[in-house]
Amino acid sequence: MIINTPPLGWNSWNTFGKQISDEVIRETARAMVDSGLRDIGYDYVIIDDCWAEKERDENGRLVPDPEKFPNGIKALAEYVHSLGLKFGIYSCAGDRTCADYPGSFDHEFIDAETFAEWDVDYLKYDYCFRPRETPGHILYKRMGTALANCGRDIVFAACSWGADNTREWIKTTGAHTWRSTGDIYDSWESIKKLAMQQTDIQSTNGLGCFNDMDMLVVGMGGKGNVGLTGCANEEYKLHFSLWALLCSPLIIGCDIRNMDDAVKNILTNEKVLKINQDPAARQAYMINSHGDRPIWVRALSNGDFAIGLFNYNDTAVRLHFSIADLGLNCVCGKKLELEDVWTDEIKEVDGLFCDTLPAHGFRLFRGRVRNL
Ligand code: GLA
Repeated sequence: MIINTPPLGWNSWNTFGKQISDEVIRETARAMVDSGLRDIGYDYVIIDDCWAEKERDENGRLVPDPEKFPNGIKALAEYVHSLGLKFGIYSCAGDRTCADYPGSFDHEFIDAETFAEWDVDYLKYDYCFRPRETPGHILYKRMGTALANCGRDIVFAACSWGADNTREWIKTTGAHTWRSTGDIYDSWESIKKLAMQQTDIQSTNGLGCFNDMDMLVVGMGGKGNVGLTGCANEEYKLHFSLWALLCSPLIIGCDIRNMDDAVKNILTNEKVLKINQDPAARQAYMINSHGDRPIWVRALSNGDFAIGLFNYNDTAVRLHFSIADLGLNCVCGKKLELEDVWTDEIKEVDGLFCDTLPAHGFRLFRGRVRNL
């Protein structure tokens, strides 16, 4: 298996959109190292759409835009690798990419060979301009097969936004991650919309093909290509905690060359990252039935639980759960110790845990069962 836990990294789209260049990517890769993001586990630097010339060359090969990438892609990948990072690129299952550059339809094998030659480690594969006659699972199987046979380990990150019942067929395509949602924007409404869409799909998450809830907007502050109103840092924390708990890839989208300490502290919370990267990579399950104020639980590999309570409403709500709700035997003299992974505070629960969450509030705990 190429990956056993959800990928961690950075992608150019949220901040830079079309305005990408060799310089931006090199500076960002450097910032991954200098900021400590690399050392804490973020290792993919991914170029999104808009890196290519508008047309293929006479041999049918993709050509990097010479103005944006004068050194070519292979040299850039080499630089990224020299910093101890991995390199990702973007293409699309249709004729054209979403921003109207050449897509890989009917060129899957030659493109996978090209990416392997350029030492690419990760391919994000979009779903725009797809031929209507060919079902999505065939389009993704063709690229999945091409990558599996290209002679290099390349993470296959499918990006069909959950369309056409993606979750029913995606595991047959060789994809390592699958985008379950439409595009994220930097606003509370966008985070809430994507969060609410997760209620029914967790059963198709987990080891083998991680549910990608889209890139993070943490730290964008309303700037950049998908910048809208921006969010408060507490909302960014909720967003990061939820994505981490639900085992999504954590792909940073802000300009990490200029992030402040508050943003860095969110993105580098080790306890949250440890939950996301838990080696068992089990999917979360919801233990209540309110999509707007869910309680998500994940059984971690060492017997601990990750427990997240979220409030997507604009007013405070009261939430509670008991040890029995976690699926544990509560009549045998056990209590639950809850460690708040943001405040480090420890609470003991031997019956019911109750808490009032403010509007857009959340709690994320690591829970351990102890004898009374
Ligand atoms: C789609 C994807 C986005 C981004 C853009 C690029 O909208 O969902 O994540 O890759 O295309 O054009």
